[in-house]
Amino acid sequence: MVILQQTISAVTLHKESNLVIITISMTILGIETSCDETSAAVVRDGKLLSNDTAVQLFHSEHGGVVPELASRAHQRIIIPIVEDALRKASVEKKDLDAIAAVYGPGLIGSILIGLSFGKAMAMGLGIPFIGVNHMEAHIFSNMIEEPKPSFPFVNLTVSGGHTQLVLVKDYFKSELLGETMDDAAGEAFDKVAKMLGVGYPGGPLVDKFAAKGNAKAVKFPRPYLEEGSHQFSFSGLKTSVLYYLRKVGFDKTANVNEQFIADVCASFQAAVVDVLIDKLLTAAKKYDVKDIAMCGGVSANSELRRRLETEAKINHLHLFIPKLDFCTDNGAMVAQAGYERLRKGFVSNLELTAEPNLQLN
Ligand code: KG4
Ligand code: ZN
Repeated sequence: MVILQQTISAVTLHKESNLVIITISMTILGIETSCDETSAAVVRDGKLLSNDTAVQLFHSEHGGVVPELASRAHQRIIIPIVEDALRKASVEKKDLDAIAAVYGPGLIGSILIGLSFGKAMAMGLGIPFIGVNHMEAHIFSNMIEEPKPSFPFVNLTVSGGHTQLVLVKDYFKSELLGETMDDAAGEAFDKVAKMLGVGYPGGPLVDKFAAKGNAKAVKFPRPYLEEGSHQFSFSGLKTSVLYYLRKVGFDKTANVNEQFIADVCASFQAAVVDVLIDKLLTAAKKYDVKDIAMCGGVSANSELRRRLETEAKINHLHLFIPKLDFCTDNGAMVAQAGYERLRKGFVSNLELTAEPNLQLN
């Protein structure tokens, strides 16, 4: 049996019906450590009180996330991040009603830090623990602040590890419509950035260069796959960029022409944006939804946001994209998902372990 130790925030008498109304307040700490961001957030009754994130910038020296270094960094910073999130929310540990942490998918060593910390803290405080699926949490990043999308809606999650189209029917009822068969959108951005030698993480840098480039300079392929398909494939597009760079004799160690890099970035980015938008709109039409949403690190891309805003208006769809802090990995989306799970009485067993390949459903 699970006993939810929720705080009673108000007891009021409803005069007409003579009913006593007990308002239960729920304060949740959410922890995210699935990759290279250590983040903690506090949500009370569905409202975000704080969100504190530490980004591991040192991976740039290695050109990508080094799993062992990522988990060690999470271990060093998790206590100060959690304490900071509680302090900013003016919440003490004893005020918490539950703790939520991600248990997958992601890097096993990284997940284990946040998951073990969250479980131990919940056990120490004698409060419920809630394991959260990282992909489900990303969808919740559009439910942290008002306005929120109405069910059902079609959601596009575009991150460094995943590209998924999801029909979200209710809080915990969703159908995976399609996903990438090879590279994720963010991974393609990072790999193209590496080929061009512009640095890591690649997505934001390609975005920055692309703003000064000509998107029509190079005609890269648009991997739409067969008509109406909800699947994605970005590895062929990435290889086209590689072949193009080889053909023109590009050498990233030489003194390179910034305009050339900007043009390649803009042309590659335009191909990714075309495909993502086309597939999101196709799914919205097929499932006849009024609301569409996008989340994950790549949803921070300025051209993708701009183009999608225009297309949503043309197609009379309500578009939801999180603010930049909630596009990349963050504790707020985990706390919000944890809050909704707790409201429905879904809590986890402390035996829950990390699942690096955890699926959405
Ligand atoms: O969601 P996220 O923080 O972590 C994962 O769950 O993977 O996404 C990280 C990914 C990286 O591949 C990064 O390059 C990409 O999001 N990204 C961007 C932008 N900002 C971050 N991609 C394109 N344009 C951006 N502005
Ligand atoms: Zn993520």
